[in-house]
Amino acid sequence: MAISNEYDGTVLVAGATGRTGSWVVRRLLHYGVRVRVLSRSGQKARELFGEQVEVAVGKVQEREVVARAVEGCDAVISALGSSAFSGESSPAEVDRDGAILLIDEAARAGVRHFAMVSSIAVTKWFHPLNLFGGVLSMKLSAENHLRKVFGQEGRSYTIIRPGGLKDGEPLQHRLHVDQGDRIWSGWINRSDVAELAVLSLWIGKAKNRTFEVVSEAEEPQQTLAGCYERLSP
Ligand SMILES: NC(=O)c1ccc[n+]([C@@H]2O[C@H](COP(=O)([O-])OP(=O)(O)OC[C@H]3O[C@@H](n4cnc5c(N)ncnc54)[C@H](OP(=O)(O)O)[C@@H]3O)[C@@H](O)[C@H]2O)c1
Repeated sequence: MAISNEYDGTVLVAGATGRTGSWVVRRLLHYGVRVRVLSRSGQKARELFGEQVEVAVGKVQEREVVARAVEGCDAVISALGSSAFSGESSPAEVDRDGAILLIDEAARAGVRHFAMVSSIAVTKWFHPLNLFGGVLSMKLSAENHLRKVFGQEGRSYTIIRPGGLKDGEPLQHRLHVDQGDRIWSGWINRSDVAELAVLSLWIGKAKNRTFEVVSEAEEPQQTLAGCYERLSP
């Protein structure tokens, strides 16, 4: 496993001013990685991160904004998430179409790795969460597109499907990972999801993996890298 300060690329974080995204930024900065954020509010980004990051201001629906944001980046981490039934914050516009636009523009710009925060139960169309604008199905469409585009030679992806999200410090829980969308319940700290997304940049066994993850027990961890040892391609 490469140590973090050997990672020498700029990482674009989409959804950076959200609750998981801001942890992604903090963990990237912790490891000394160069960060650019895509945010609808430059002011919010500056309030959260000061001058430590580059800021690209705009919506994920705006192709020119997204194209400029990914230019020169080595990787993208998306923690985008919808928050309304309709309009620019809806599952169709953010979780599906926005994510797909970001994936396509990232590939076009030569981005080599794309990590996406998705959700447990995305393959279960009958799940009650789908009553919220089909959010799980929208996320699955984006996942499928990511696997197709970034599963190609010279690129890689990591899709993290967390259980219910909570706030709190990272590395305070032993995690349970699984594959095949078999987990129905459970929760995890946003900060641990962020940590896993960041580790995927330099851990080989994180490449081209889709997995579910929830907390198993309160138990301080040195690293979450071991989660990737337990996954199959
Ligand atoms: N809540 C749960 O229990 C749960 C469980 C499993 C998976 N998830 C998924 O995990 C992810 C992260 O969740 P979270 O709670 O951290 O989300 P969050 O705090 O709501 O953050 C969502 C981010 O998406 C951004 N965003 C929304 N619409 C946008 C647009 N049109 N253009 C650009 N950015 C846009 C928001 O921007 P602003 O900062 O400008 O608002 C925000 O930064 C989401 O995909 C969520 O669905 C959540």
